[in-house]
Amino acid sequence: MRDQWNNKLGFLMAAIGSAVGLGNLWRFPYVAATNGGGAFLIPYFFAIITAGIPILILEYTMGKTYRGGAPVTWARINRKFEWIGWFQVMVAFVIGTYYFAIIVWVLSYIGFSFTQAWGADPSGFFMEYLGLTDGALNFGGIRTNLILPFIIIWAIVAFVMYKGVSKGIEMICRICLPILFVLTLVLVIRGITLPGAVDGLEYMFKPDWEALKDPGVWVAAYGQIFYSLSIGFAIMLAYASYLPRKTDVVNSAFITATANHGFEVFAGIGVFSIMGFMAMQQGVSVEEVASSGIGLAFMTFPTAISELPALNALFGICFFGALLTAGITSMVSILQAVVSGFHDKFDIEHKKAVTIVLVPTFVISILFITGAGMNILDIVDAFINNIGVASGGVIEVILITRFFNPEKLRKEANEFSNFSIGQWWTYSLRIVTTIVLGVMLFLNTKDFIVNGYGNYSSADVNVFGWGCILFVVVLADFLTTMKGKEGYADLDKISQKEAAK
Ligand code: ALA
Repeated sequence: MRDQWNNKLGFLMAAIGSAVGLGNLWRFPYVAATNGGGAFLIPYFFAIITAGIPILILEYTMGKTYRGGAPVTWARINRKFEWIGWFQVMVAFVIGTYYFAIIVWVLSYIGFSFTQAWGADPSGFFMEYLGLTDGALNFGGIRTNLILPFIIIWAIVAFVMYKGVSKGIEMICRICLPILFVLTLVLVIRGITLPGAVDGLEYMFKPDWEALKDPGVWVAAYGQIFYSLSIGFAIMLAYASYLPRKTDVVNSAFITATANHGFEVFAGIGVFSIMGFMAMQQGVSVEEVASSGIGLAFMTFPTAISELPALNALFGICFFGALLTAGITSMVSILQAVVSGFHDKFDIEHKKAVTIVLVPTFVISILFITGAGMNILDIVDAFINNIGVASGGVIEVILITRFFNPEKLRKEANEFSNFSIGQWWTYSLRIVTTIVLGVMLFLNTKDFIVNGYGNYSSADVNVFGWGCILFVVVLADFLTTMKGKEGYADLDKISQKEAAK
C-alpha cells in the first residue's frame, strides 16, 4: 500500500518545505545580484507566471492522477515516456549527493558561529576548513573535520526517510518550517535596521531596464524558478502522487508558489540589506559584495556577522540555522523523488527502497567531503542544473503538449478545483515555456561546449560535468529497460478503491 499525506495541509507543508531550500537563501540573492539586481525581478515574476505555476499545476495533476513516482507516472501516460521519468529521477539523485554536502558545511558553521571561529579572514578559513585542492581530480583525501557533521546529517536524513512520507517527511516539515520562518524574520529585522541597508534594498528593487535586453538575464530567471520550485526533476510529481485524487491542485500550486517566492523575496530583503551594510563598511558597491552562491553563505556572510555591532553569535546561528532547516526539508524531498521511482516500479517495500537509494547516495557524497569537494560540487551543480534540470523540464513540456493531450490534464485539474484554469495554461506551456526553455538549454549547452566551465581543466569538466550528464542518461536507460512489477504501467490495475479516494 502506498503512503499518503495525512491531509492537504501536510502535503502543502511538505511541498513548501521542498521548494524553500538552499536555493532561496543563497542562490536567489546571488543570481539576482549578478543579473541586474532590480531588473532581475521582472523576468523572475514573468517566469513564475509563464513556467513556474503552469508546470507546478502540470506536475501536481500528473502525480495525483497517475499515482506514481516520476517513471511510473510517465509510463502510465505512455509506456514510451518512462525514460524521461528515470532521467528526472537520476537528476534528483545527483543533486541529492552534493546538496547533502552543503548541509554538512552549514552544520559546522552553526558551531563556528558561537565564537566566530573564522576570525578576520573568513575566506581563508573556509578554504582551510575544506582543505581545498587545486582541481576536481586532485582529491586530497577525506577531511576528518567533516566526518562528524557528515554522520550527524546522514543520521537525521535517514531517520526521516525510513519513517516514510506521512510520519517522516510531513513531520519534519511541520517542525522545520515554523523554525525557519522565525529565524528568517530575525534575519530580516536585523538586516533592515543596519546602516547601509537602504543601498542594498535599492539595488534589489531598482529596475535597470537595459538589463532586460540581455537574454542571459531571462535564462537565469527561468533557471532559478525551476530550482527553487523543485520542478523538472521528479520531486513535485512524486509528492503529488501521495495525494487523494480529489485534491484541488490548482489552488495547491498557487499556495506553494506564493509561499515559496514570497519567502524568497522576503529572505532576499534580509540578505540584500546585509550586503548593503557590508558594502558601506568596506566602501565598495553592493554588486562587488555579492559573490557566488557558495561564497555568499560561507565567506561573505561570516564577514558580515563579524562586523555586526552586537549579538554576532546569535545572528550567525539564526542564519545558518535557517539554512539548515530549509536544506533538510528539501534534501528529503530530493531523496523521496528517487525512492518513489524504485518503490513504484519494482514493488520494493518502503524500507528496502530507502536503503537502495541511501547507500549509493551516501557513498557518492563522500566525494564531496574530500579536499576536492567544493570543486566537484561547483562543476556538477552547474551541469546538472543548466543541462539536466533544463532538459528534464523542456522534454516534459514537449511530450505533454505535443505528444499527449494537455486538455485532458487541464480537465482533470479543473474537476476538483475551486477556480478553473483557462486555455492560457496550455498556451503558456506549449508556446512560451517551450521556447524559453529550449533557448535556455541551447545557450547553456553551447556555452559549456565553447567555454568549458570556470577555470577548471578540461579533464575536470569532462569527468564531472559531461561525465555526470552521461551517468544520468545511461542509468536512466538501464532502469527503463529493467523489468518492473506486473502491470506497473497500467493505471487500471490500481484498485478502483484506491484510485477513487
Ligand atoms: N527547491 C530546493 C531549493 O530551493 C531544491 O533549494
